[in-house]
Amino acid sequence: MNILILGSGGREHAFAWKLVASPQCDRLYVAPGNAGTGKLAENLPIDPNDFPAVAAQVMAKDIQLVIVGPEEPLARGVRDYFDQHSQLKKVLLVGPGKEGALLESSKDFAKQFMNKYGIPTARHRTFNLETLEEGLEYLRGQEMPIVLKADGLAAGKGVVICQTPSEAERNLHEMLAEAKFGAASSQVVVEQFLEGIEVSVFVLTDGTHYKILPEAKDYKRIGDGDTGPNTGGMGAISPVQFADHDFMQKVEQQIIIPTIEGLKNEGIHYRGFIFLGLINVKGNPMVIEYNVRMGDPETQAVLPRLKSDMVDLMTACARGKLSEVSIEIDSRSSATVVMVSGGYPESYQKGYPISGLEQETSSLIFHAGTDLRAGHVHTNGGRVLAITSLDDVMENALSNAYQTVSNISWEDANFRRDIGQDLLVNSNKSV
Ligand code: AMP
Ligand code: GLY
Repeated sequence: MNILILGSGGREHAFAWKLVASPQCDRLYVAPGNAGTGKLAENLPIDPNDFPAVAAQVMAKDIQLVIVGPEEPLARGVRDYFDQHSQLKKVLLVGPGKEGALLESSKDFAKQFMNKYGIPTARHRTFNLETLEEGLEYLRGQEMPIVLKADGLAAGKGVVICQTPSEAERNLHEMLAEAKFGAASSQVVVEQFLEGIEVSVFVLTDGTHYKILPEAKDYKRIGDGDTGPNTGGMGAISPVQFADHDFMQKVEQQIIIPTIEGLKNEGIHYRGFIFLGLINVKGNPMVIEYNVRMGDPETQAVLPRLKSDMVDLMTACARGKLSEVSIEIDSRSSATVVMVSGGYPESYQKGYPISGLEQETSSLIFHAGTDLRAGHVHTNGGRVLAITSLDDVMENALSNAYQTVSNISWEDANFRRDIGQDLLVNSNKSV
């Protein structure tokens, strides 16, 4: 089978690594990919949001399966585009249509959906420019902190946690009246702040059946000890010790099943990943966000724990036959450390040569923002590499990943030194 992955990050490199391990994968393409995917597959220099260009490649290369990595092509309707074109209809595609993608592309849609189907989430109100005054009045009566979220896609930047009513009022005004996040903040969800630890749970569904993949914890802030601005994610670990059997039972019964039933009830035929961003509030899972794709860097920690054949899983999902496949998980722990360009998530330089990639290591080195210049791998983005190690013991997985990181360098490289440490401390405390 010929397969195409849309996207260019560490998540897509991890998908490529897992797909080429399947005997069913004949030719693999990644559009546009990076230097890492270029070693495993053929990179196609096209924009995943340029659907006619994607379609032309699918036909020219006789591609039978398309896996969509990022949310943007989904939110713009890549599945709908395939469904509407007679020659593309028969191509298997993993990812929801535009309507299903609203779970991520409209936070107001996601909140209304959760309220309608009784899915546990923070209390909220949505405001727009016309109801700005009402919104400001509402904020004055709320407990602090409070969370303001741009309704639309804002590249992970649309959430502001406010500590005082005046900060909240200023931010609501900036978002609605000054388009702080562009069109994404033409509506704002104002949400109760939830106290607890976050965990990401991944579900693959064909619209009726579902498989739960290993959960992971993402480290979103740039600095050690969860300090500084939010990033796309600086590391991940899997499993997450507090997501035990009881907790995961609650996730399945209170969140996963009602979500899939709700989508069906709305007439949304969802085939793809659902990423549940959860917060553990005193042992009870609550949804802080849905994403309609896998996480990055969570994928780089989760897929190495998946023993099942990835082509089997992807084709079963796209064909509506997920009940016919089983999912087998490696019990080992996985740790991923992301190496970023100095300055990220603000401004940073690209184009530095990277050394240490040829080292002997048992770690997996996934590329994110890299490209080849004169045959040598250079930095080409904010998040540059994601290094994953597996071990029976989480401490060892972490130290092995960090050992590999210590042998890789480029000018101004940066990474967090404390990935996984918070949960190790918790696990020691709870003994
Ligand atoms: P999101 O873009 O929805 O993932 O939000 C970004 C980050 O903001 C999350 O990872 C949380 O750390 C935080 N956050 C979002 N919603 C809430 C909430 N209701 N309570 C507390 N923290 C939140
Ligand atoms: N790591 C969080 C995300 O992929 O949205």
